[in-house]
Amino acid sequence: MKIAVIGTGYVGLVAGVCFAEMGNAVICVDTNAATVGKLRKGQSPIFEPDMDELLARNIAAGRLSFTTQAREAVDGADLAFICVGTPPRDRDGEPELSLVYGAAKDIARAMTGPLTVVIKSTVPVGTGDAVEEIIRRTRPGAVVSVASNPEFLREGSAIDDFNRPDRIVIGVEDLRAQETLQRLYLPLCAAGAPLIVTRRRTSELTKYAANAFLATKISFINEMADLCEKAGGDVTELAAGIGLDERIGRAFLNAGPGYGGSCFPKDTCALLHTAQEYGVPLRVVEGTVAANNARKHRMAIKVMKAAGGSVADMKIAVLGLTFKPDTDDMREAPSIPLIRHLQRAGARIAAYDPQGIRQAREHLSDVDFHDDPYECARDADVVVLMTEWDEVRTLDLARLNRVMHTPTMVDLRNIYAPELVRRFGFRLAGIGRPATPRPEAPLPAPPAPIRSERELEAIVVK
Ligand code: UDX
Repeated sequence: MKIAVIGTGYVGLVAGVCFAEMGNAVICVDTNAATVGKLRKGQSPIFEPDMDELLARNIAAGRLSFTTQAREAVDGADLAFICVGTPPRDRDGEPELSLVYGAAKDIARAMTGPLTVVIKSTVPVGTGDAVEEIIRRTRPGAVVSVASNPEFLREGSAIDDFNRPDRIVIGVEDLRAQETLQRLYLPLCAAGAPLIVTRRRTSELTKYAANAFLATKISFINEMADLCEKAGGDVTELAAGIGLDERIGRAFLNAGPGYGGSCFPKDTCALLHTAQEYGVPLRVVEGTVAANNARKHRMAIKVMKAAGGSVADMKIAVLGLTFKPDTDDMREAPSIPLIRHLQRAGARIAAYDPQGIRQAREHLSDVDFHDDPYECARDADVVVLMTEWDEVRTLDLARLNRVMHTPTMVDLRNIYAPELVRRFGFRLAGIGRPATPRPEAPLPAPPAPIRSERELEAIVVK
C-alpha cells in the first residue's frame, strides 16, 4: 500500500518506519525542513531503541522517504495518517487541534484519488467529524473516508509495542475504511494482535480511557504507598499481593514519584475537559490528577526529611532525570518540580542522566550536570534515585558511599532492597516501605505435622 504519514514526532515516525518495514511504500511529511533533512540521512530526532537501524534499512530499500511537501506524499496514496501533536492549549487541558485541522486541509488539497484518512494523533471525541467536514468542504465531491486509529505505544519500547500490540483499535464510519485498515494491519493480526472494530467516537474515547485508567492505577498505588509509610506496611509486597489477582493485574502498580511524560498528564486533563464540556463528572480521574499533582510537593518533603529536616546549603545528587528510562524525553518529568522545590529550599543540585541532559537544560537552571553518576554524587549529602535507568539500577553501592559526603539515599523507585542498601552503610528512605528493617530473628518454627491418630487423641485428651 502507499501511505502518507503527516508529522514525524513519536507517533508518526514510529508508524512510518514500522509500516515501511511491513513492506508498504511510506512517505513521511514534516514542515520542519531541518528534521526532514536529518531523517533523510537516517538520523532520528528521537532516542528510541532500534529506530536508527529501521530507518537505515527502509530508506536504503526505497520504501521510506521524507518530505516537507504534503502534496508529494498524498498524491496517489491509499492512506494518509495524521500524526501531528495535540499539545494542551492552556492549563485547563483543552488540546490544541490547529495542527490536526491544518493537516486535514493539506491532505484535502493534495489528494488525487479515493483516500482513507486516519487520525492517529490523540484527539478529543468528535475530532474525526470535524476533520471529515474540513476535507469535504475543501474538496467537495472527494471520495474520502475518515477513520480513527489511536496509538498505544510507550516511549522506550515504541517499535516493539507497534509490532506486537495488545490490540489494534480502529474506529470507522464506512466499510471501505474498515477494509483498507484491516488489509494494512493483516500481518500484525495474523501474528496474534486482536483487532477491535468500532465507530469513530468510541475509538477516540478509548485512547483517553486507556491512559486515564493506567494513570489511575499509578495514583492509586502511590496513595497506598503513603498509607504504608504511615501505617507500617510495604507497598511492593502489597502490590504483589493485589496484582496477582488477575482482575487487578501487577502492571502499573509500581509506586514512585508520580507519572510524567507526554501522555498521561496531558491526556487525563484533556479527558476532564471533554467531560466538563459534556457535563459528565469524572470524579475518579479528577482524583487521579489531584493525587499526582500533590505528589510533586510530597517528594520534595521526603528528600528534606531524609536530609534531617532541611536541605539548605546541602548538595543533593539526582540520578536520572527523564520521566522514565530509555528515553531522552523530559516532558512533565517529576524530576523538574522536585529539583525546583529543593533549589527553592536552598539546596545545590547535581544531576546525572544517560540521555536526558540536553533536554533537561531547557527546563532547569543552576544545575550541575554530569555524565557519570559517581562524579555527580561526589561530596553529596543526599543521593536521590529518580529514574530507573539500568545505570541507576546497577550502581556500585560501595563506591557510591565512598564518594558521598554523607551516605543518605532516597530511592524514589524502590530499586534496591532496603537490607542491601543499609548493609552498604546508607541511611535509606524509599517509597511506601517501612522505616525500620524486618526483625533479624527467624520466625518461630511451625508445629510438627500430626501424623497418627494416636498422637491426635493424645492432644485431645490433654
Ligand atoms: C503511556 C502509555 O503507557 C501508552 O500506552 C500511551 O500510548 C502513551 O502514554 P509513556 O508515557 O511512554 O506511555 O510511558 P509509561 O511507560 O506508560 O509511563 C508513564 C509514566 O508513569 C512514567 O512517568 C512512569 O515512570 C510512570 N509509571 C508507570 C509509574 O510511576 N509506575 C508504574 O507502575 C508505571
